Amino acid sequence: MQANLVCFTPACRAKYLLTDVLYQCPQCGGLLEVEYNWSEANPSSWKRLWRERRTDNAPLNQSGVWRYREMLPFAGSETNEVVTLREGHTPLLKGPLAADYAGLRELTFKHQGFNPTGSFKDNGMTCGVSQAVRLGKQIVACVSTGNTSASMAAYASAAGLKPVIFLPHGNISFGKLAQALEYGAITLQVKGANFDEILALVRRIADRSGIYLLNSINPFRIEGQKTMALEMLDQNDWVVPDWVVMPGGNLGNTAAFGKGFEELYRLELIPRLPRIAVVQATGSAPFFHFMQQQGAPFSAVKTPETLATAIRIGDPVSWPKAESVLQKTRGVVESVSEQEIADAKAIIGRCGIGCEPASAATLAGIKKLVSTGIMASTERVIAVLTGNVLKDPDYIYRYHTGELKTPANGVILSTYGNPPRAVDNDPDAIIQLLERIKN
Ligand code: F0G
Repeated sequence: MQANLVCFTPACRAKYLLTDVLYQCPQCGGLLEVEYNWSEANPSSWKRLWRERRTDNAPLNQSGVWRYREMLPFAGSETNEVVTLREGHTPLLKGPLAADYAGLRELTFKHQGFNPTGSFKDNGMTCGVSQAVRLGKQIVACVSTGNTSASMAAYASAAGLKPVIFLPHGNISFGKLAQALEYGAITLQVKGANFDEILALVRRIADRSGIYLLNSINPFRIEGQKTMALEMLDQNDWVVPDWVVMPGGNLGNTAAFGKGFEELYRLELIPRLPRIAVVQATGSAPFFHFMQQQGAPFSAVKTPETLATAIRIGDPVSWPKAESVLQKTRGVVESVSEQEIADAKAIIGRCGIGCEPASAATLAGIKKLVSTGIMASTERVIAVLTGNVLKDPDYIYRYHTGELKTPANGVILSTYGNPPRAVDNDPDAIIQLLERIKN
């Protein structure tokens, strides 16, 4: 589709080419977004076309991102530059136990952990790395709390580019670090700096070195992530839920979902927008505080803390976009404690679904929103599980064995703990034990 890069700041709206290498507006410093010329579009045929592609074996049609390419900034022959690992087509799963836990009649999860590298980042990275290929870049870089780096490493290597990743030293889960190493990334663990500080560092390096930056400030990543909203509704037979709930870190995902729904609405492919609820961890909740204190300037959290390391971000770059999404969708932000996240995560596990800690903030947030009456028990809710259960096995083991502690070394109760038990090699003793457990 014919498109431009446009400054997101309403007072600026400066326009640039898709092939300009920009992360922010050179005129005002604002965030950039992709804007389409929809006048050439014929959206009335798209729903049928997108459905038909699901049964086709062509790589682009197998991808749950590129299947929706009418709404992506790569047109015609440019799709030859696409690098796909068949991302997307992640399932909608019902979680009756989780619904019960939250006080809802029904709850559906959109599980992005089913992606090739186990998180929603793949939806965006396929677009971001394809843009790097289109620009002729050789080296791509990102700073990450873990999932972005795992995803970027995989897609860059698949495209024959060199991935360089920057991580907060000692503060990402081992599973994610292991992925980056395995996928061949040059992995730099920056000492004594958190995500926000390293992002500022990497932006300086990218400007001076010609390395292409693939953090979610990159508007092409947001376009890829936007297709989660499209696929969610396609799978839901275009029935718009009342709420879509997601965890908030750097807030790129909130921006992406909001853009996806808004464009569908503008193209008259859906009759209304769902309300969006963003959930943050109490120790890393700058956006929650900002939205609470209507009118106060945005203020970063200097030392964000949470065991949900994926969302341990104090200075989220995409907050202006997220604010606009919440305004347009009558959205809300909630914050939840470490205990609430840990318990919600165990419940999602018991649904046979499972997810990483940041993703479980959704269920914890929904429970709170239902209890305060903001969400009605009869409303239709879809929660986005952003990462796979195996991303952070250490957290799981500690929770179930009662060893999990808050970042300040406080107690986290193993409310739904399910510890392994050591047994003797003795059938009678094991049968007795099983009888006791059954009763
Ligand atoms: N959930 C998971 C599993 C994540 O990895 C992230 C972000 C988020 C939620 C929050 O999404 O930043 O768009 O609001 N992880 C980034 C990373 C920051 O580096 O992997 P967001």
